[in-house]
Amino acid sequence: MLQHLIASQPSLVMLGGDFTYADTWLKPDEHIPEEVQGPYSYQPKWDTWGRLFEPLLSRVPLIHTNGNHEIEALPDGRRNVAYNSRFPVPGVGRPAPVSFEPVTSSSPYSNLYHAVELPGVLKIISLTSYSPDQEKKGFGSGRDEQYKWLQQELANTDRIVTPWLILLVHAPWYSTYASHFKENDCMREGYEPLVTQYGVDIMLVGHVHAYERTKPVRNYYMDTCGPVHITIGDGGNSEGMNKEFIDTMKRQPDFCDHPEDGKQFPRDQPQRCLSWQKGHYCFKEQPDWSAYREPSFGHGTLDLLNRTHATWSWTKNQGGAFNVADQVTIVRGSGGKACSAPPAAAAAASGRYLRAGH
Ligand SMILES: [Fe+2]
Repeated sequence: MLQHLIASQPSLVMLGGDFTYADTWLKPDEHIPEEVQGPYSYQPKWDTWGRLFEPLLSRVPLIHTNGNHEIEALPDGRRNVAYNSRFPVPGVGRPAPVSFEPVTSSSPYSNLYHAVELPGVLKIISLTSYSPDQEKKGFGSGRDEQYKWLQQELANTDRIVTPWLILLVHAPWYSTYASHFKENDCMREGYEPLVTQYGVDIMLVGHVHAYERTKPVRNYYMDTCGPVHITIGDGGNSEGMNKEFIDTMKRQPDFCDHPEDGKQFPRDQPQRCLSWQKGHYCFKEQPDWSAYREPSFGHGTLDLLNRTHATWSWTKNQGGAFNVADQVTIVRGSGGKACSAPPAAAAAASGRYLRAGH
């Protein structure tokens, strides 16, 4: 994957979290066994990762966000220490290390969300799926600090000057893979109205170890007001690939039939959100917004051709560096439709939040 990535001669690299999996290692060649209690992280794995990527990242910038493996809760309670220390974003959140305190815009946690702008071309906004502030308050209620910051950041982006707007987030909002299914739906529910109102073009996400591209979608409907969501969590890792789709499983998880019963859900999905309607929570067939999905390792490239057109290409590791398996032209804009009034609240209130069959 890395050789292919280098061969594509990128101007910059975007990484949606889960860098090293240092939190899964006990020794250089030994994973943490299940019986080991408490948080642990084998920090030299960060150096290994740095050396692996040095041929590329010594020459081009890395735009990143944190994944669940960056949380790395240390025995003393601190989180994101290696991530914030090794990948500080200039101008935000100094100094690391961090403590487990609520987020404020001036706190070290603000390193977890930030924006990078290339004037005249694009702005990339990195958001975190994981912060204690959101754990306490919930996503997008207007109370969590990241939401307030995002609102300001979007409002201050002049799309005449900077046409392309990309969000980089770790956990997907739209994925049909069984792994981590709807795990980040609370964030989607809270943030999506803002994201569609301001016409975000593309959301790049990771977390799921596979590839999937959607058509423009919002609120589980194909809609030109919504971004194209691309799950590109297939860079490779020691845990292997996620191969199962939720709609093709021979036996779907219990929570598909009884989403209202919180006890059915895995422990890492403690939040409960509106897309829980019984019978519609899990897809029974591939949704129409899911344009292409394939569990293979690889990487993607995004070529911004001009102010309105871009080419997205996904290259699998099998085959040559430019053996593209999925390619699409992404056209900016909402087709002339006004997108400032997302229908989410009204649809949810009337119980028509999801279409039958989704
Ligand atoms: Fe992850």
